[in-house]
Amino acid sequence: MARVIATINLKGGVGKTTTTAALGEFMAAEFGQRVLLVDLDPQTNLTTMMIGEERWKELNELDRTLAALFRGAIESDTASFDIEKALQYDVSPVRSVRGVDLLASSLDLIEIQEGLSHRQYADPGSHRPIEILTSAIEPIADRYDYILLDCPPNLGMLTLNGLRSADGYLIPTIPDILSTYGIPQLQKRIQEFANRTDHPLREIGLVITKYRSASNLHRSIIEQLQRDDRIADVVPAWVPEANQIAASAEFVPYGTLKRKYGNTGQFDALRILTETILMNAQVYL
Ligand SMILES: Nc1ncnc2c1ncn2[C@@H]1O[C@H](COP(=O)(O)OP(=O)(O)O)[C@@H](O)[C@H]1O
Ligand SMILES: [Mg+2]
Repeated sequence: MARVIATINLKGGVGKTTTTAALGEFMAAEFGQRVLLVDLDPQTNLTTMMIGEERWKELNELDRTLAALFRGAIESDTASFDIEKALQYDVSPVRSVRGVDLLASSLDLIEIQEGLSHRQYADPGSHRPIEILTSAIEPIADRYDYILLDCPPNLGMLTLNGLRSADGYLIPTIPDILSTYGIPQLQKRIQEFANRTDHPLREIGLVITKYRSASNLHRSIIEQLQRDDRIADVVPAWVPEANQIAASAEFVPYGTLKRKYGNTGQFDALRILTETILMNAQVYL
């Protein structure tokens, strides 16, 4: 059975999507894992990073994104979503990466998310609106070693669907004052949700992103985070801030991961990050 990991932070722009994409690609190419990426964010960034905007538009017109799943659930029309058709195989734009599949997001999820909330308010005791994703991926989970869920920066119904499906979660953060503010509250909310739904959800760790080695502030914030006993673990492989990592968001063909992310520290940092998370996941999940 696949291990399911959600990437979550209530802040946008902290590297959630970039981390999810890189983890998926490195897990597959460097560690031989079969990976499914699930893009739960209506901003569709992970989707367009993996398949580009044109293919996303085609999928959206054919109704083969997660919008079809959640819309079908609201309208009680479960037949409308065919996961076999929605699954996109071998999606990474990196030629040397094999074995990363995708369930695409859609901009239409912005409205659909509201419909899901209405259903939840109408029947607050029901777990069904937060179990839509879990039910959908259950039949295919065996095909993968890891399922990575990229969540939107809120605790709305899409994120709750992600957390309900997840065995563990990662919190990517930039090591600065504003980005790290509120992390203990987020962890508390996630734990409360796990208790309420009677579903164990392990914190795999905090992932330091956009790290600037020349910044004293970054270093002292990381030290503070490491000392903070409310935080389970700061993953000891920090993703450097690098132009090439920012540029990796562009959907263009790349030969190798070194080409995509850069080989002046970035490739090694992402590889060690992935290796550490795989080890933690095997211990915790
Ligand atoms: N390590 C990094 N170095 C430089 N830029 C980065 C890095 N990680 C992410 N970015 C850029 O920062 C922006 C936000 O990253 P993204 O992964 O989309 O964050 P989130 O999903 O949390 O909103 C994007 O433009 C992305 O390309
Ligand atoms: Mg994102």
